[in-house]
Amino acid sequence: MAALAATAKHMVPCTCRGFDIDRIREDFPILGAKVRGKPLVYLDNAATTQKPQSVIDAVSRYYAAQNANVHRGVHQLSQNATFAFDEARRKIGAFINATVECEVIFTRGATESINLVAQSYGRTFLHAGDEIIISNMEHHSNIVPWQILCQQTGAVLRVIPIDDDGNLIMEEFDRLLNEKTKMVAVVHVSNALGTVNPIREISEKAHSVGARVLVDGAQSTPHMPINVQELGCDFFACSGHKMYGPTGIGVLYGRAEALDQMPPYQSGGDMILSVTLEKTVYGRLPSKFEAGTPHIEGVIGLGAAVDYLNAAGMDAVQQHEHELLAYGTEVLQRVPGLRIMGNAREKAGVLAFTMDNAHPHDIGQILDDEGIAVRAGHHCAQPVMQRYGVPATTRASLGLYNTKEELDALGAALQKVNEVFS
Ligand SMILES: Cc1ncc(COP(=O)(O)O)c(C=O)c1O
Repeated sequence: MAALAATAKHMVPCTCRGFDIDRIREDFPILGAKVRGKPLVYLDNAATTQKPQSVIDAVSRYYAAQNANVHRGVHQLSQNATFAFDEARRKIGAFINATVECEVIFTRGATESINLVAQSYGRTFLHAGDEIIISNMEHHSNIVPWQILCQQTGAVLRVIPIDDDGNLIMEEFDRLLNEKTKMVAVVHVSNALGTVNPIREISEKAHSVGARVLVDGAQSTPHMPINVQELGCDFFACSGHKMYGPTGIGVLYGRAEALDQMPPYQSGGDMILSVTLEKTVYGRLPSKFEAGTPHIEGVIGLGAAVDYLNAAGMDAVQQHEHELLAYGTEVLQRVPGLRIMGNAREKAGVLAFTMDNAHPHDIGQILDDEGIAVRAGHHCAQPVMQRYGVPATTRASLGLYNTKEELDALGAALQKVNEVFS
């Protein structure tokens, strides 16, 4: 396992008490790239994050030195791969404070995590007339699976509205909650608005009527310390590629007590204790939910990403991004004709906006000419666009490696947008 330990250089991005941004930026090879002859300014972190060298190394090291299937072989390579795989589960469980590591289920991403709960828990425990509560600020990943479940079971979808600033209207949530509510599925941090939702309060209220709580943590896990015990939720969905890890890997945290009651989501190899032609006995957690050969290098890469975030320190990451958000908000407020969408009381690093003169796609194009990567569109959150009466927004989203200078570059490029379209 020597190769596993040989990651030190890139795993410790900052050892000082402050946040060593120069050191951090050096860890991400792509940040040195030029786009259209200009230094890359990457502000599309809500779509996906860039990868530190330690993650890239962990994935390539797996293929170069460890490649074997897990949980199957008696040979040394397979045992090494299995050790690295299981180790990653332990790290990720500790990162979100799961009680036991078998509460960490590997999935393809946050989307699959939510689908797993909707289909496995939902189809087992929800019936006609039961109610599911989501919010008006959900990503499509946390809307469509529940709509499908409603079609399948006759359950009814209820929606918590949001106010003009992008806060959940909690009085409306209180009004919607009743003894028919069986599931409350809400986003922790909105990818379209940046709103940070009061999950603990939501969990307590939902549990008081006997409902389960699923939290879509795709946009919170990379940006703030996560403690699923404190959040009080039953399920928590994470996205590996938004956590500086590989694509195609995600996590479903579920309380063991809940997961134990749920049937498998997919079936096949690796998820069984025994199979005869008449009967199958399913495996224990977590294998019951991990049919087939898993995304081994994705899991190992995600473990390296968690190491990286731990070394950076999630409190420091949150603080850094909070400062950037305040700074970026001021920068944008100085741009004539620009309106920020999402001014919630609690906000994480998302700066979504519209401009009087230009369509988001034109803005995105002009920013790209300046080497600045942002996202333009509905951000897979069309109900949010409908709520505010816009077809799309431009979104700059922050990551731990962004700087105030990059936000200045964004501000200058937006002034250019105004010049072009005035
Ligand atoms: C809030 C939110 N939930 C879910 C997802 C889907 O995540 P994944 O790509 O891991 O399926 C995203 C992706 O943008 C998101 O922003």
